[in-house]
Amino acid sequence: MRLDFTALGAAEAYRWLTATVTPRPIAWVSTRSAEGVDNLAPFSFFQVVCDAPPTLMLSISLRDDGSRKDTLRNAERSGELVIQLVSKAQAEAMNASSAMLPHDASEFVQAGIAGVPAERVAALRVVGAPVAYECRVADIMPYPAGRPRHHLVFAEVLMAHVDDAVLADPRHVAPALLDLVGRLGGSLYATTRDTFSMTRPR
Ligand SMILES: Cc1cc2nc3c(=O)[nH]c(=O)nc-3n(C[C@H](O)[C@H](O)[C@H](O)COP(=O)(O)O)c2cc1C
Repeated sequence: MRLDFTALGAAEAYRWLTATVTPRPIAWVSTRSAEGVDNLAPFSFFQVVCDAPPTLMLSISLRDDGSRKDTLRNAERSGELVIQLVSKAQAEAMNASSAMLPHDASEFVQAGIAGVPAERVAALRVVGAPVAYECRVADIMPYPAGRPRHHLVFAEVLMAHVDDAVLADPRHVAPALLDLVGRLGGSLYATTRDTFSMTRPR
């Protein structure tokens, strides 16, 4: 089968891309609004993009009515965010936090998710997350130019919190203990439980 993406609508392109570019890691992002409301939402258009400076990137779409999601509004205003990775144990909580709430409502409160203050940024950090990266916003790039529908948020990592329980030794995480989930197409998810190793050729 061949698919002409230049003739596909956005919804179909989304369906094919998200069903095939899998599994996608999930950034569980906490931010704080100008009024002090703690926001939390998941984003699977997410990756590590470089190590110097250590930078993560997520893509935040505009809502159907063209408005900015709370995460983008808060990140633009404060220049700060915390990016958590999502364990199987917290998958349901992550999903619950994706509900679209008014700007003045907190997903932490609504979904009953515990947060503690971060150290370098004002946003909360999710209790129980295996890894949390405290970040400053390095750049926000509207995309595509001219008529942007998305914003690529480049987040420079300032500080990481790694749960001691997921460490194999002080310098290495144990993937089996990290036990993350990734997003597939639609409402499907995968775990990172099935692993194998390969030696790279010289
Ligand atoms: C697993 C998962 C992944 C998601 N990934 C994205 C994404 O990459 N980009 C995006 O704009 N929305 C994504 N969403 C939808 C947002 O989480 C949702 O729009 C949320 O309400 C935004 O919250 P906010 O307005 O508090 O920022 C995802 C939802 C789920 C459940």
